[in-house]
Amino acid sequence: WVLMATAQTPTNIAVIKYWGKRDETLILTITAAIGMRPWFYPLMISVSPLIQTTFCTTTTVAVSPLFHQDRMWLNGKEMSLSGIRYQNCLREIRSRANDVEDEKKGIKIEKKDWEKLHVHIASYNNFPTAAGLASSAAGFACLVFALAKLMNVKDDEGKLSTIARQGSGSACRSLFGGFVKWITGNKEDGSDSFSVQLADEKHWDDLVIIIAVVSSRQKETSSTTGMRESVETSMFIEHRAKDVVPQRIIQMEEAITRDFPSVARLTCADSNQFHAVCLDTCPPIFYMNDTSHRIISYVEKWNRSEGTPQVAYTFDAGPNAVLIARNRNIATQLLQRLLFYFPPPLDTDLNSYVLGDASI
Ligand code: DP6
Repeated sequence: WVLMATAQTPTNIAVIKYWGKRDETLILTITAAIGMRPWFYPLMISVSPLIQTTFCTTTTVAVSPLFHQDRMWLNGKEMSLSGIRYQNCLREIRSRANDVEDEKKGIKIEKKDWEKLHVHIASYNNFPTAAGLASSAAGFACLVFALAKLMNVKDDEGKLSTIARQGSGSACRSLFGGFVKWITGNKEDGSDSFSVQLADEKHWDDLVIIIAVVSSRQKETSSTTGMRESVETSMFIEHRAKDVVPQRIIQMEEAITRDFPSVARLTCADSNQFHAVCLDTCPPIFYMNDTSHRIISYVEKWNRSEGTPQVAYTFDAGPNAVLIARNRNIATQLLQRLLFYFPPPLDTDLNSYVLGDASI
């Protein structure tokens, strides 16, 4: 017999960025962070014709007495599960597993059996992996959630977020939809470093996220390496952690009560400061490219000409722009403007896709 569970998780975009760890193994952050899960119409504008889809990870986990070792495939390619992050997630979930019974199939797994049974994991991203689009956030959250379903783990999303966190920091925020805060925590074992939902999916459902895939190439410096180097060498990161982020978290929590201009100002400012920390790292890390910079200038000019922000931008560890439009009408205008000023090349191979170089 084979028993399976499938989960689907959209990517999580940080509006107040996590950058820097106080514990590399347990993945504990030096600052709180706020993310939003784009359940609402994210559009990818790099391909022609337009793909209108939610960027998400789909993961199926299976267990069978016929499996002799834990194995995983990502986008159809087998990958190793020996890394500490996968091992920690698997161990934590197994230790919380419960009895499972499927009478129709005649399957009965007792709590104690889970230690001996092996799992096969198949995960698929419908967006470029490791191109700064939070693939590890969706990936680990989805994996932990699917395994928890399979093994009948009874813990709530908050507890599961502490397990997903050990796979990737940003995954901690991805167990919930809507706006989510990752609480820093003080304890050494990380048990108080988990996520809470600030507002659910329905709270602000006229926002639209548009992801402009400037480049789908893998980034040169991973987030893990980049933030380690920032913690070791940036003088600016301490100021950010102590003086800036705690204030911004409070302000963002207030702004999430549907105050778009404040959300936009805070989101753009925090993205720019995160990239400033990257530049202040030795050697400096350049995640954005010229097209990213031109998108920023364009949005800034547009917002200024309107007198109040209509669109926010934010960039994770890569050149791709995540644009948040205040409503569908603005999103339609934004798409038209982006396609006009940054026309996609007529190449349908996503991997070689780069937005046009038209200057604004
Ligand atoms: C810039 O969660 O990918 O996207 O914890 O080492 O796996 P690890 O790093 P990761 O870092 C994400 C950094 C970011 C900001 C954010 O998502 O908050």
